[in-house]
Amino acid sequence: MEKTPTNVPENVIDCPAADAGEQPVIQIENLCTQFGDVVVHENVNLTINQGEIVSLVGGSGSGKTVLLRQMLGLTHPASGTVRIFGEDINQISQQELQKLRNRWGMLFQHGALFSSLTVFDNVAQPMRELRVLPKELIREAALLKLHMAGIGPEHALKMPSDLSGGMIKRVALARALALEPELLFLDEPTAGLDPNASESFVDLIRTLRDEMRLTVVMVTHDLDTLFALSSRVAVLADKHIIAYCEPAHVVEFKHPFIETFFRGERGLRAIEAMPDAQDSESESKEEKRPEIQPQHRQDNAP
Ligand SMILES: Nc1ncnc2c1ncn2[C@@H]1O[C@H](COP(=O)(O)OP(=O)(O)OP(=O)(O)O)[C@@H](O)[C@H]1O
Ligand SMILES: [Mg+2]
Repeated sequence: MEKTPTNVPENVIDCPAADAGEQPVIQIENLCTQFGDVVVHENVNLTINQGEIVSLVGGSGSGKTVLLRQMLGLTHPASGTVRIFGEDINQISQQELQKLRNRWGMLFQHGALFSSLTVFDNVAQPMRELRVLPKELIREAALLKLHMAGIGPEHALKMPSDLSGGMIKRVALARALALEPELLFLDEPTAGLDPNASESFVDLIRTLRDEMRLTVVMVTHDLDTLFALSSRVAVLADKHIIAYCEPAHVVEFKHPFIETFFRGERGLRAIEAMPDAQDSESESKEEKRPEIQPQHRQDNAP
């Protein structure tokens, strides 16, 4: 369990990962982020272990994207440390940081494709930058990654401006997977996807986690995806991680953001869908579900 700094609210809940024996992949300690006078994070602590899928949730402007950027070494903290694969990413050289970057993939909130490159070239570009892979292998791998993300070869030569929002997301996911990462950062991966595409995304991430022991950090407002995939949910509010727990526990935590986010109409639907979504999950999770549903129905009874 992480250290709890003295100025974190007392009612923080924090539970260890289901498989606590795993290696930590991300260790954030006492992270503070500030832009001018605006404090975004105050003593944020978060440890994510190998093979976990952690959803990061919080209100708009609560600092989720900035926290991902801290993990990528794109934004620097006012104080505190961010270790990825054991390396303090604010202390290592640019060359060492580049090596780490080749071990992770990132899907940015708004796709962030290169507008002057085709779909194919966007996905091939990280592989070309390595300068070691033969052209034919890059071609096959790029088309495979596009296929995995649900984009057929007929779209390969299109420009990003010719794609729908959902397609841009899927191409960006294919690009994030280009180097077969050990760690994947996803900022709103299913926003703009239709329900079928969201379900395909959930299946793909599950497969990658099971087959490649991929670790995933995902910012999401999509409760179906959150409940289907998350090993733990980290809630960012009031500049802190106020809760870091299994999804079934986090919904019980009394905080205005959590109550609105999980116990609104969308939350009720997603919680009710949990038994189907988690049929294959462990028995211990099964046992927790009935506690949530009756309480929720009472709270929202007409
Ligand atoms: N480069 C920057 N300079 C100054 N302020 C910034 C910068 N980047 C982010 N911020 C501020 O940090 C705060 C957190 O922003 P962030 O983008 O992380 O929010 P978010 O939780 O991702 O919100 P959303 O759900 O809307 O995407 C906001 O107040 C934002 O204006
Ligand atoms: Mg954001």
